[in-house]
Amino acid sequence: MALKIGVFASHGGSNMQAIIDGIEAGTLDAEIVLVISNNSGSGALERARRHDLPWRHLSGKHHPEPADLDRAILGALQEAGAEVILLAGYMKKIGPETLAAYEGRILNIHPALLPKHGGKGMYGIHPHESVLAAGDIESGATVHVVNENYDEGPILKQRKVPVLPGDTPETLQQRVLKEEHVIYADVLADVIAGTIRLPVLGD
Ligand code: GRF
Repeated sequence: MALKIGVFASHGGSNMQAIIDGIEAGTLDAEIVLVISNNSGSGALERARRHDLPWRHLSGKHHPEPADLDRAILGALQEAGAEVILLAGYMKKIGPETLAAYEGRILNIHPALLPKHGGKGMYGIHPHESVLAAGDIESGATVHVVNENYDEGPILKQRKVPVLPGDTPETLQQRVLKEEHVIYADVLADVIAGTIRLPVLGD
């Protein structure tokens, strides 16, 4: 049975696209049962519509009370039957109810080698600026399990990317993003194959 996944994305959605491509190519035995975005104009929602995937725009705009938003998100995921959640460039924290219901089954991708260059404010171009400012000779991508703190849960897989002479934050970002697309699909394949074991839903 195809693994039912929910994807959360705030912006372009190229990581989500890598997963869609794997599913459509038949290399990932998964089904995206819901795409959630806090941004109604996101590329991610455009991609969802283009690929006929169920999507919801859920944000503080319609649910100003964080607990209400959390409940609405959890309800939508449960209604859709999502078993695993992939955060793919999602700019908001996951609420406590959703986190508890999906404990250990929410994954995130971060464009640096955690635990370095992660945490609050380390989104978009910032991790890449931070890598260059630190003089690191390599960066990379990390997939990890989500807990209540930004970028802190157990690491599942990393892939290194060299920092090249003359790199700008933007050139490094592009090189890392390419690897993100590979590593996220790899981790999902491992979850599907059972080589990465996530807790069973409802445990
Ligand atoms: C990626 O770099 C991801 O690691 C980070 O946000 C970016 C999202 O890119 N969390 P996209 O929306 O998947 O294209």
